[in-house]
Amino acid sequence: MSRDDRKSSPPTAQSAARELLANFYTVERAGSFRLSDGGGPFGFDITTALQIDFLMTSYGCDGIVETGCFLGDTTTYLARQYPDVPIRTCDVSEEYASFTRRRLAGHTGVRVLTGSSDELMPQLLKGLSRPLVYLDAHWYEHWPIREEMTLIGTGIVAIDDFDIGHPRFSFDEYDGIRLDAGLVAQVLPEHDELFVGDPEADYPFPCLQTGRRSGTAYLVRGLDAGPPRESGMFRRVALKPHIQLPAWSTAGTGAARPRATVSGAGR
Ligand SMILES: C[S@@+](CC[C@H](N)C(=O)[O-])C[C@H]1O[C@@H](n2cnc3c(N)ncnc32)[C@H](O)[C@@H]1O
Repeated sequence: MSRDDRKSSPPTAQSAARELLANFYTVERAGSFRLSDGGGPFGFDITTALQIDFLMTSYGCDGIVETGCFLGDTTTYLARQYPDVPIRTCDVSEEYASFTRRRLAGHTGVRVLTGSSDELMPQLLKGLSRPLVYLDAHWYEHWPIREEMTLIGTGIVAIDDFDIGHPRFSFDEYDGIRLDAGLVAQVLPEHDELFVGDPEADYPFPCLQTGRRSGTAYLVRGLDAGPPRESGMFRRVALKPHIQLPAWSTAGTGAARPRATVSGAGR
């Protein structure tokens, strides 16, 4: 194979995985200034990046929306990993939004809006027919998660800090309301399933997050749920006739830890 042939060859699965690895671990963890997991993309949990990459590819997502950018650790990773799709993010704090705007200034496909995600959602989704939406806006009295979920008609919704029922994984809880399958069933009564990232699946790279890890849930809205159903990276959670969480084995995932809940301030 000549040098030119090599340059034009499509990326192999191995080179694509290496690129993701490099994009993930070279993001400066600015969020360490406040986040209990030390910052980094997706809470420095590469399994979430691999799950999202699988969904981006399987569904041919035409854009990414993030809610709650903080200092832009995840936004920076997404901009490097997916330079060909528009990336829209927001933060209710002007200070955090403007920091992220400056940090991502070199990435023309990235837009950072200031405001509450529930109010901005229609604008964030505008023109996207298959968005991947990463919900991570929380910390204050107004927790927009319910409105966010109802406003996304079509797309893949990834919900951070979700209770996956695994003893090693944290989740959010505000004023006694837990971010879990029960909340999804209540907010989206017509929805009959969700998926959670499977931390016990076989991944090409180990997760280097030795501190706080939190669960991620995925909702497939208005599209066929075949890809996560058939992939080994996800576990299905039935919402009907009753909620059934996966039975986890904690073997191989490190020592089981007590559940850490968050009240009023989290990752
Ligand atoms: C956990 S941090 C986000 C971390 C970021 N996604 C990352 O991965 O680096 C939560 C952020 O949500 C923001 N936030 C809280 N409520 C919000 C709302 N209603 N709309 C938009 N952002 C909000 C907070 O200001 C904070 O920056």
